[in-house]
Formats: sequence, C-alpha cells, structure tokens
Amino acid sequence: MDNRPIGVFDSGVGGLTVAKEIFAQLPNEEITYFGDTFRAPYGSRDLSEITVFTMQICEFLESQNVKALVIACNSIVAASYDEIVKNFKMPVIGVIEPACQEAAKYSKSAVGLMATAATVNSGAYERLFEKVGGKQAFHSIPCPSLVPIIEDGKMGSEEALNEVRKYANELLTHNIDTLILGCTHYPFLRPEVETVTEGKVYIIDPAQGTTRTLAQTLAMLNMERKETSPPEHKFFISGDRTKFDFVYKTLFSTTPDIMIHKLGE
Ligand code: DGL
Repeated sequence: MDNRPIGVFDSGVGGLTVAKEIFAQLPNEEITYFGDTFRAPYGSRDLSEITVFTMQICEFLESQNVKALVIACNSIVAASYDEIVKNFKMPVIGVIEPACQEAAKYSKSAVGLMATAATVNSGAYERLFEKVGGKQAFHSIPCPSLVPIIEDGKMGSEEALNEVRKYANELLTHNIDTLILGCTHYPFLRPEVETVTEGKVYIIDPAQGTTRTLAQTLAMLNMERKETSPPEHKFFISGDRTKFDFVYKTLFSTTPDIMIHKLGE
C-alpha cells in the first residue's frame, strides 16, 4: 500500500488527456499534476533543453512526495526518459512504449504517427516500435501547428480542421491502417482527426495503454492507494491560468483549483 499521489506532467494541457484516463481506470488514486505552460510548447525545442526543464519538473514533483512519475508527454519521453529513470528512484511510466505495443498488435499494413518535431526527429517511436516487435512500415509526420492551436483552446475551429487535414492526408498517402496520436495534446483534436480519416484508420490515444501500464506497475509493486477517503488531486502550472482553465473545462466540464508554480528562476 502507498497512499501518496502519482506525479503526472506535461509541457502544458496535453497531460490532462492522460489524467482523465487515470481518473477513469484508477479512480481511487490521487494525482499531482504539473503543466509547464509558461515554457510550452516543448515540441519545437532541442532535446537537451527539454531535459533541463524536465529535471526541474521532476525535482518539484519529488518535493511534493509523489510515489511514481507518469511522463504524460511524448516529447519528454523522447528527450529525457533515460535521464529521469537514472535520477529518480521511483517507477517511471512513459507514453510511447504502450502506444507502440498497441500499434504493433493492431496494424496489418502500415502505422502512421502524428507528433511534435522533437518526438519525430528523436526517432524514439521507430526505436520502441522495433523493440516491441513491430514489423510494419512506420511513417511519421511532425505537426508543429497543432499544439499552439490546442493551448489556445481553438479546438473545433476551421483552422484546426485544416491543419489536421494537411498532416493526416500526407500520412494517408502511405496506406496506413493505424494512426498514433503521438502527442498528448492531440486527443483534444480527435473529432477533427476522425472527420479527416473517415473511419479508414484505427486511432491510438496512448493514454489508455499508459494507464494500463501504470495500473499493472502499482499492483505489482504493491503501491496502490488504499485510503477510503475520496482522492484530492492537485494541479500546478507555471504560466497564466486563463487558457489552462478553458482547456481543462472542455475535458472535465468544471474549473479546477490551480496553483501557479514557476520553475528555473
Ligand atoms: N504534449 C506533448 C507531447 O506529448 C508536447 C507538446 C509540446 O509542448 O510541444 O509531445
């Protein structure tokens, strides 16, 4: 038994799509969330800079006494997974491997990946896809305009649909039957992705597989929360709360209690 919270983090609002899945699959667990909204997006930054920021986030979460770290950001997994595992003595769960496992299992022809430039250029997906036994062709496309659209709350707009169409159509030319939303922000644009792909592909949101891995890890290590009082989640962000509030509300229909915490100053 371990009643401490799980640390969940992202460059901004994207990790909320993973938090939502944790609330659904592990309703008795408590989370402490950190979104580095002041420095988002991460996906257009150098991998080394992402690692510097990530270490600051993990140190902060460690000071909040979390029992495990869920890297709810593909770009951070791509840039900093090994460094996190090396420096923090607790279970560390990333979003990329579970997504690769699901794609390797499902696809009969080719897999497409929409992700940030940092994730695509790192080659982390191709490496992990091979590691889990994926033999299918793998096609990736960096989608730099999508995170700003989501951080600005412009889901459902003409602009969002046009940008998604541009990227998804490029992948569809490779006859993919499976599409990984390889950035935790992108599930906010799932309706646009579904419209554009017209049911032709199986869409993978890494949040589900990641949360299953988290659940198995906590059970295996006997680290589940056994407290019967309702969980109390904490949300920290580093930037302005107006946009975060808006995006949070689109997912949870409520406004959270958010604390502002600046890092690296
Ligand atoms: N949500 C993040 C990811 O999964 C990154 C978004 C960004 O800051 O560029 O890659």
